[in-house]
Amino acid sequence: MTADTLAAPRSPKGAVRKKGPNLEMVGWVFMRVSGVLLIVLIFGHLFVNLMVGDGISALDFAFVAGKFANPFWQWWDVLMLWLAFIHGTNGMRTIVNDYVTNAKARKTLVVALWAVCAFMILLGTLVVFTFDPCIPNLTDGSVLTEFCGA
Ligand code: HEM
Repeated sequence: MTADTLAAPRSPKGAVRKKGPNLEMVGWVFMRVSGVLLIVLIFGHLFVNLMVGDGISALDFAFVAGKFANPFWQWWDVLMLWLAFIHGTNGMRTIVNDYVTNAKARKTLVVALWAVCAFMILLGTLVVFTFDPCIPNLTDGSVLTEFCGA
């Protein structure tokens, strides 16, 4: 091998392409599609929260409560949560597969990654769809006092 030749990529000994759907290809396509969607979702999120109206100075509990009372923003945030976690976890899985040579450690790390991802998605989705801004006996005179008393 001369200096200008790339070494053959490492692959498990005797690796043969299994029959059935090619999950690695699905993952490859998912990373690109979710990447494009994340650009729209993340920059839309930042623009609406930080630049529209009073911008960052309008951010408070009532602002968040207002967004979570609207199904459009609930679905926007949930989609962002799901895509970012699955994209990030699948990306970390790629890095683990590339660098962790011990099979047991690799398997443990990949299982841990997906377990954390599933738990965070479950928790986040529950928060977005069950969020209730009305704290009992709220009397701080904020816009929420009026909204929750109504
Ligand atoms: C802003 C929108 C985003 C775009 C356009 C984007 C795009 C991409 C693409 C195309 C890849 C595949 C790279 C490859 O296979 O060589 C990738 C990998 C990755 N992404 Fe994203 N991504 C975005 C947001 C995120 C977010 C929010 C996270 C974390 C939650 C994240 C974490 C990762 C990780 C860990 C990898 C694996 C890196 C690697 O293989 O070396 N990305 N991203």
